[in-house]
Amino acid sequence: MSPIHQVQFHTSFPDTSAAIDRRIPEFAPAHISDEDKYFRNHEPPAYLPEIEKEIEQFIQFHKENTNRRIVLVTSGGTTVPLENNTVRFIDNFSAGTRGATSAEYFLENGYAVIFLHREYSLLPYSRHYSHSTNCFLDFMTENNGKIEINSKYTEEMLLVLRKYNQAQANNTLLLIPFTTVNQYLYTLKSAAEKMHVLGSTALFYLAAAVSDFFIPKSRLSEHKIQSSATVDGQLQINLSQVPKFLSRLVDNWAQGAMFVSFKLETDSNILIQKATTALERYHHQLVIGNLLQTRKNEVVFVTPNDSHWIKLTEDEIKDHIEIESRMIPEVIKHHSEWITQHPN
Ligand code: PMT
Repeated sequence: MSPIHQVQFHTSFPDTSAAIDRRIPEFAPAHISDEDKYFRNHEPPAYLPEIEKEIEQFIQFHKENTNRRIVLVTSGGTTVPLENNTVRFIDNFSAGTRGATSAEYFLENGYAVIFLHREYSLLPYSRHYSHSTNCFLDFMTENNGKIEINSKYTEEMLLVLRKYNQAQANNTLLLIPFTTVNQYLYTLKSAAEKMHVLGSTALFYLAAAVSDFFIPKSRLSEHKIQSSATVDGQLQINLSQVPKFLSRLVDNWAQGAMFVSFKLETDSNILIQKATTALERYHHQLVIGNLLQTRKNEVVFVTPNDSHWIKLTEDEIKDHIEIESRMIPEVIKHHSEWITQHPN
């Protein structure tokens, strides 16, 4: 049985070889055309060609053998290093729950999944037993010097194990890691360009929490920032806006595919308006809005023609129903309509 396809290298140690380079022009505050400037002024991660090969083989395998639809799920938060030899970085709250859970429901519904995730965030299947929910030892019991699964958990674990084994046997899950926002952007671009051949059967489900601000390479300190760099005991850090890549993704990198982006807000009064603005700005198909406080129990689907909520009932919440089990079939319905309207 082939293993779940996990690329064997780590992204949590960004390249340290490139020292600060003052020849690179200053990165101006973001304008619409800044996506291209970004790629001119920032180097790709050294491992990118290997990842591109993995993605190409995965796509080729499913084109030739299974004809499955392929979804790229992004998941977890990107980091913004404050130093090139990174000791400190800016991070965000996302644990990758939405992405990992959604990936499982896409797999269950027959999709092949490229899972572009923050390294060490939650993964499909193992998320059920991760350190962020339970210690895996809690699921074990000792019996005459042997370790067994506690009978309380066997039924549920067997279900997860079967699905996990099926994903392995069918080669339907490709795990691709990122840590920094630079690694995320380069990998997303490469993956999208490879998926271009799939036309409307490709789906992008962008659940990652992508940094909105970063320090351009031209201003990044090579070594750990010293306390001598402070002025009157205050450290000043100037962040620039990360260009929004959604328009490049939709219009160029994977033109013809269907795109689902997420909108996260904390104020319910502006959520739908912000989602509608995103649709108008990027001309894609669906924005799923969620509030930080209630994101596990309710989301709103916003399309150019409509907006409607999916909400778990009190009973469903008590029964630990996952909202992604409602969301993904609905996303797939939109994707099927998209394919019918845009045959390859
Ligand atoms: O991981 P969990 O704890 O389960 O949390 C899930 C979640 C709340 C993170 C998820 O459901 C979610 O809402 N993700 C998107 C949050 C976000 O970063 O929103 P945004 O407004 O910054 O970005 C909107 C969209 O544009 C996103 O789909 C993002 O992938 C994309 N984007 C963002 C920044 C950028 N420079 N380029 C982009 O393309």
